[in-house]
Amino acid sequence: IAWNEVALEMAREVEKVVMPLFGTSEAGKTVGTNVSGDVTKYVDKVAEDVVIGRLEPLGVNLVSEEIGFIDNGSDYTVVVDPIDGSYNFAVGIPIFAFSFAVFRGKEPVYGAIYEFVPKHFYEAVPGRGAFMNGRRITVRKPERGKEALSFYTRGRCTGLIKRVKRVRVLGAIAVELTYLAKGALDGVLDIRNYVRPTDIAAGALIAKEAGAIVTDGAGRELEIHLSATEQTNIIAVNDRYLLDMIMEEL
Ligand code: IPD
Ligand code: CA
Ligand code: CA
Repeated sequence: IAWNEVALEMAREVEKVVMPLFGTSEAGKTVGTNVSGDVTKYVDKVAEDVVIGRLEPLGVNLVSEEIGFIDNGSDYTVVVDPIDGSYNFAVGIPIFAFSFAVFRGKEPVYGAIYEFVPKHFYEAVPGRGAFMNGRRITVRKPERGKEALSFYTRGRCTGLIKRVKRVRVLGAIAVELTYLAKGALDGVLDIRNYVRPTDIAAGALIAKEAGAIVTDGAGRELEIHLSATEQTNIIAVNDRYLLDMIMEEL
C-alpha cells in the first residue's frame, strides 16, 4: 500500500468537507460521546466518516479518536485523529490538523500530519527522516536562555516557565510536534496523563525522524500503543539538556 498517497488523498478529502465549517457554530455542535468519554463535535464526525470510508476497501485495522478500534484482522493498523484541535477549529483559531500513522504489528512504518490552513503536509518513515511538502526538516539547536516550549502540565512543573524564554500552548499537540520537528519550537510536553495515541502517533514519529528525543513522562523511550483510549504522557525535545531540565522540574 502506498501510504503516502493514501494519507495525502485522505487529508485533501477531509479538508474539502471540513473547511467550509471552520469557525461556525455548526462545527462545534455536540453529536455524541466518543470512546474516551469526550464529546464528539459535528466536525469530528464529518471528518472521521471520510477516513472510515476511505480505509474500508483497504481492509486494515483502524484506531480513530471518536469510533475507537476497528479490528479487521490485518497486519496493518492505521491510527488516526481526523481533526486534532477541534476546539480551535470550531471557534475559528486556525491551528488544527489531520493526523495519520500506520503500524505494522506494533512498529510504526509511516506518519503524516496535514495542517490545513498553511497547507503543510508533514511525513516521516522510520530511518528515512522527516519532510514538509517534500522538503527535509530537522529540529533546531536550542540557544540557552532562548528556548520556546509548549507544555501542558495541569499545574505541575511550573518552574519551567521561568527557565525558558517563550511558552506557547496551541491546543493541537499534533501541530505542536510538527513545529518541534521543523525547528519552530524546542520542546513539547504533555504530562497530564491525558493525550491518547491518536493525538501523538504521527507527531512522535515525525519529531523523532527530524532529530527530536521523544520520551514518556519518565524520560524513557515512548511506546505508542494501538489504543484509542489509553492515556499517556509525552516529552519531546530537540536537545538532551532540555530533557534534563524538564526532569529536574518534575
Ligand atoms: C486535543 C488536542 C490538544 C490536547 C488535548 C486533545 P482533539 O485533541 O490534541 O492539544 O491538549 O488533550 O484532546 O480533541 O482536539 O482532537
Ligand atoms: Ca486529538
Ligand atoms: Ca480529534
